[in-house]
Amino acid sequence: MSGKFEAPRGTQDVTPADWPVWAHVIATAEALFARYGYRRIQTPVLEDTELFTRTAGEGSDVVQKEMYTFTDRSDRSLTLRPEGTAPICRAYLQHGMQQQPQPVKLYAIASMYRYAAPQRGRYREHWQFSVEAIGTDDPAIDAELIQLYDSLLRSLGIDDHTLFLNSIGDPNCRPQYVEALSRWLDEHDEQLDDDAREKRRTSPLRVFDVKSERVREALASAPRIGESLCDACREHFAAVRSYLDAYGVPYELDSTLVRGLDYYTRTTFEFVPASIGLAVGGGGRYDGLIEQLGGRPTPGIGFGAGIERIVLSLGDDVPPPPALDVFFALDEGAQRELVLGWLKALRDAGVAADTDYAGRSLKGQLTQAGRSGAHTTVIVGAEGATLRRQGAEDQPLSHADVVGTLLR
Ligand code: HAM
Repeated sequence: MSGKFEAPRGTQDVTPADWPVWAHVIATAEALFARYGYRRIQTPVLEDTELFTRTAGEGSDVVQKEMYTFTDRSDRSLTLRPEGTAPICRAYLQHGMQQQPQPVKLYAIASMYRYAAPQRGRYREHWQFSVEAIGTDDPAIDAELIQLYDSLLRSLGIDDHTLFLNSIGDPNCRPQYVEALSRWLDEHDEQLDDDAREKRRTSPLRVFDVKSERVREALASAPRIGESLCDACREHFAAVRSYLDAYGVPYELDSTLVRGLDYYTRTTFEFVPASIGLAVGGGGRYDGLIEQLGGRPTPGIGFGAGIERIVLSLGDDVPPPPALDVFFALDEGAQRELVLGWLKALRDAGVAADTDYAGRSLKGQLTQAGRSGAHTTVIVGAEGATLRRQGAEDQPLSHADVVGTLLR
């Protein structure tokens, strides 16, 4: 350690220079969520560890390798949330939201924590929109959520994305499929690698997430869940697709899209923009999750969308930072108290105003005024003031007229 501190590995600061893009993404998303009837919820950054082990799955990468888990001073095992769905479902139950008209549409904007090797677009702390519709298995809500996210990306100017779509069945049909897949994996064991065998051991469906191109090619002839869906799941998936067609949302079927968390049932999806080649959002149904948490059977669906990745896919196409309206530069003999009073009056009236706090010369203050982007600079003297605006003549003012003129 050199004695200098840096943000922990895999985490990042969002500086004021970065924030306007974040603000733009968040404001666009919140306006859209509201239009679709989603309301904001906030849950703690910490939860009981078991909330995640029970829902994401003991065999998932998140639970096996990535959780920030610690014991607190009263020996409780707590975990920094690695994902947003289980906490939101926990809150849904805790606050009796089953009593409300269903579905309950909720969204959170929250930081998530996953201990994995950091790389571009993959962080140990990242921010997500977590958008959830709980309490209905109507396939039209699947289509609505997917269309909502497609619409968010397009309103941000991202339109090079592919929507990958799949159905992974439910507890009625998945066990038969897993059996068929396991048989195939037994017969083709020599074509697998250690990664695939390990994935298979924890959850056979996850073999499709293997990294090796060679194993992926071999898996191309493995049985697919789509061929084994029960009638109810097949009909549900057909309805989701026909509603997406009705919305005009294009998608590609991807029969290997199984997602990395155990709670998924039926519809699964991911949005991948070509520019970054990483998922900017993904989700699916989790019809058994609330029951796993001790609630009565309650279907749900949602998605998570990584804000850093959305920002990455925006590239340089960003809105300019907000400029200051007024900057006060103080000349020799100017009374500071007077200027502080004007600052308060202007700020109270909604005008963004600032002054020098670094003891700069008048020349330095004028440079600072230029850097701040202020539309108006007021040069304050002992007896009067001068109002300076780009492209206009300097305007002399009495002290008494400064605030009135600026508010006009
Ligand atoms: P997830 O696919 O694990 O799903 O994460 C959702 C999104 O968060 C990803 O598509 C990606 O954009 C972003 N993301 C995930 N991990 C990282 C990371 N390490 N660094 C940067 N961005 C990341 C879930 O978390 C589910 N809770 C989504 C969901 C909601 N399913 C149903 N409802």
